[in-house]
Amino acid sequence: MEEAIQRDLNSDFNGVGEKLQVFKYPHPVLKKVAEPVTEFDADLEQFCKNLLHTMYTAPGIGLAAPQVGVSKRIFVLDISYQREDVTLADGSKEKRCTEFNPLVFINPVLKELDGEQLHEEGCLSLPGLYESVKRYSSLEVEYQNCSGEVKSMKAEELLSVCIQHENDHLEGIVFLDRLSLLKKNLLKKKFLKKKKNK
Ligand code: NI
Repeated sequence: MEEAIQRDLNSDFNGVGEKLQVFKYPHPVLKKVAEPVTEFDADLEQFCKNLLHTMYTAPGIGLAAPQVGVSKRIFVLDISYQREDVTLADGSKEKRCTEFNPLVFINPVLKELDGEQLHEEGCLSLPGLYESVKRYSSLEVEYQNCSGEVKSMKAEELLSVCIQHENDHLEGIVFLDRLSLLKKNLLKKKFLKKKKNK
């Protein structure tokens, strides 16, 4: 199924999915523990494509279902795609994504968490905020794909960071919650002030 998604994205990225609204912190849906996925059907596959489309358009390297208001245990990632400016026939410019490597994780479970790394993180639900967060350096994730098949993947470095960040969204946690209380309150204030002035 992921192969199918990849093929669709490569042929025509703009026609594949619908751009969904990304909810910003402190929207209550971001604090909810997400429900497991039990039905693996065409709607689920389309939803995953919409999530990917929204992530590529934002642009971001990861997006979890609760961020678009769907409290289900799903997230998508792509840490290696390229984004380039393309000049169209009428002279206007457009951003095009190439070299997609979409990953879809449904009902993920993190195991074999080991080591420690610090990485600067950002989040589409907290635009403009970036901060170093302490995470495990390596892990194994067991998950289901769009067809419901159980898969597993080992991850380290950036991929491991992204999996932990997105998995946190399924637990109602944003990266601010992983910082010291002092830093969290400071950044939260900064973010809410900026949001209000927009
Ligand atoms: Ni996030």
